[in-house]
Amino acid sequence: MADQAEKLREMVKEKSKKKSRVIAFTSGKGGVGKTNIVANVAYLLSSIGKKVVVFDADLGLANIDILMGLKSKHSLIDVIKNGKKMKDIMIKVNDNFKVIPAGSGIEEIANITEPIFSKIKDELLDIAKETDVLLIDTGAGISKKVTFFLKNAEEIVVITTPEPTAIADGYAILKILSKNYKKENLYIFVNMAKNPQEAENTITNINKISKKFIEKEFKPMGWALYDKNLLQAVKSQKLIAELYPNSNFTISMKKFINAMFKENLKVRENPIARFFASLFGGG
Ligand SMILES: Nc1ncnc2c1ncn2[C@@H]1O[C@H](COP(=O)(O)OP(=O)(O)O)[C@@H](O)[C@H]1O
Ligand SMILES: [Mg+2]
Repeated sequence: MADQAEKLREMVKEKSKKKSRVIAFTSGKGGVGKTNIVANVAYLLSSIGKKVVVFDADLGLANIDILMGLKSKHSLIDVIKNGKKMKDIMIKVNDNFKVIPAGSGIEEIANITEPIFSKIKDELLDIAKETDVLLIDTGAGISKKVTFFLKNAEEIVVITTPEPTAIADGYAILKILSKNYKKENLYIFVNMAKNPQEAENTITNINKISKKFIEKEFKPMGWALYDKNLLQAVKSQKLIAELYPNSNFTISMKKFINAMFKENLKVRENPIARFFASLFGGG
């Protein structure tokens, strides 16, 4: 009996030691789909029992609460201006899924001071300890408001579209993260591709350039095609993963989760996607 109790205590200890993952999603260019990807990945993770917190760290264009139709009296502004705790401003989406909203008007706070940044960081790390996954939805570009969060994330997913400008800016971010910040766990995700071939080419091209100039290649974490169902979901302030569970975009989010979290979410391809996958050997 004593043995068993000891084992149990060990198991509990192991569990509390379990490391949570802190993953930031960023991009060089804005409007590439970061917020939609983060929100849907979080929702799908929560639906398989993972405890997830999303932190809206887009201090310029905070909008995850609007995207999801969430209402809250408080936001990060209360943390910065009124000394509230990050924990107190969390919105519960479901038992496993919470959102920390940045709120509108935050861009008016021109300079977030160093002590405020470190308060946010310390409280985020405390929150991360109690969750399986902390997803950080950052703004685009390389301002201090963005790089602060990237520096503190262990894993970073850089999202780009196949547009040349987005690719160039995406590569620039990857280069800075890799060379200047010595980040190791850098991933690429391509969004809004016309077809699988275009998505695959985008990944290949980024890695070709980075291999040549910085002798690095970044791990591809998949892609999503342009999906008009997403616009419908955004308009109704519902997540596409909830509204259209079999849409191309939702399937791509599931594949991302399977790749990133070694999960085994069932993906039922629609016939058109299957046809393309067989043509290009992608998926
Ligand atoms: N795969 C997609 N197909 C169609 N529209 C998309 C796709 N991904 C994103 N969008 C649209 O692009 C716009 C920007 O998305 P958003 O998630 O807000 O980007 P970001 O957070 O990078 O600024 C939104 O209107 C969204 O609905
Ligand atoms: Mg966004």
